[in-house]
Amino acid sequence: MSQGGTLLQAFQRTVSQLDGAYGTVVMDRRDPQRLIAARSGSPLVIGLGIGENFLASDQLALLSVTRRFIFLEEGDVAEITRREVNICNLQGEPVNREIHESSLEHDAADKGQFRHYMQKEVFEQPSAIINTLEGRIDNDSVRVDSIGHGASDILARAEHIQIIACGTSYNAGYVAKYWFESIAGISCDVEIASEFRYRNFVTRPNSLLITLSQSGETADTLAALRLAKERGFMAAMTVCNVAGSSLVRESDLAFMTRAGAEIGVASTKAFTTQLAALLMLVTAVGKIKGHVDRDQEAKIVQALHRLPNDIEQALVLDKQIELLAEDFADKHHALFLGRGEFYPIAMESALKLKEISYIHAEAYAAGELKHGPLALIDADMPVIVIAPNNELLEKLKSNIEEVRARGGQLYVFADKEAGFENTDGMSIIAMPHVDAVSAPIFYTIPMQLLSYHVALIKGTDVDQPRNLAKAVTVE
Ligand code: G6P
Repeated sequence: MSQGGTLLQAFQRTVSQLDGAYGTVVMDRRDPQRLIAARSGSPLVIGLGIGENFLASDQLALLSVTRRFIFLEEGDVAEITRREVNICNLQGEPVNREIHESSLEHDAADKGQFRHYMQKEVFEQPSAIINTLEGRIDNDSVRVDSIGHGASDILARAEHIQIIACGTSYNAGYVAKYWFESIAGISCDVEIASEFRYRNFVTRPNSLLITLSQSGETADTLAALRLAKERGFMAAMTVCNVAGSSLVRESDLAFMTRAGAEIGVASTKAFTTQLAALLMLVTAVGKIKGHVDRDQEAKIVQALHRLPNDIEQALVLDKQIELLAEDFADKHHALFLGRGEFYPIAMESALKLKEISYIHAEAYAAGELKHGPLALIDADMPVIVIAPNNELLEKLKSNIEEVRARGGQLYVFADKEAGFENTDGMSIIAMPHVDAVSAPIFYTIPMQLLSYHVALIKGTDVDQPRNLAKAVTVE
């Protein structure tokens, strides 16, 4: 400011010299009625009130005062007073940004009767799934037009799917890879965003990029999207939970998950709604490509209709799982096993346990046990197996035998019709029988409950585990 001009001009000069990611707000203490804000990389949102305006990094922080928001974009500099909001670019030219009306409830950030946000969010899953399905499926078909403007054209042209995500969203993408190939008959790769963005990848012809993200602001995922645009992807779609977020704004298509606000750092309802959305998307792609016939489509859609009720049944196991959790509290390691699309569910289960209980947990594709992890098996290493009654059950049973023969302590979450019995060294948690296609979503629920109860017994900070953040907006 000593070089002259207004605070806005001084700030613009400063911002053009800054490197890295920031969302920043400044005030001149001699003129406290004026705030200047800028963003690069990190999110920044303006909340519009009547005779008052607000700034925050997330709309959730402002829901108690307003539902009208402007999401600043890269390079935006905003000048805000009680009555006015002016936004310009780094060159000082005015820019127009749309006003968004948030559909989130003002008590979205309230724990209600629950002890933790995570617990609340686990129990909200039936309604979160209902919201995600609403208006997108009829009795026995998926409404392709509900995926977004121009979706049927983009999906028809796609010859390959590349999914990019981080953390829990990556695990959802991994399940979708199995679904895209087996149900829709289209090749699909899934990769962690921080790897994808820094390697020399080959773009396949007519590749559709799909980013998955709860927040829509994860720095690596966003960077991967921008890179993919430069590198010849046919189109970019995001499956995302936050309207107006960077990924939504910068993608050609946005398929929203409608999980509602997720506050617990460990993602739960965002994951299962991502899977529900992905299953609809996969079915739509299969239908467009003639790989899914009417009969198959009807079966998948009916399974989706039943899913909220199935999840209610899984939530009934809460008390039983609470007791089981006691066995884990003094353990330092745990191994999760699954096969097929239940392997990424095992990955997600291991991630949940390590995130909130700090127990080292690993997931293995059960068929890979003999190539290393069998050496770890002893009475101190609980082995959790996800065992739905599907075509891989017999294979999984032999993997379970491999663990048993070496004195491992097994906890098998098994379909009640899968023919398992409690024996020495093996506890069976009998699960209701559900449709095979939606079973990965269903089996996620007891795993969330298990990690929640283990964390409770261990006394860790369930909603804000040490060293972790809900949205990772910097690299
Ligand atoms: C952080 C969160 C995880 C989340 C991941 C990806 O690590 O703690 O829960 O899965 O980011 O976030 P996104 O918002 O892109 O799904």
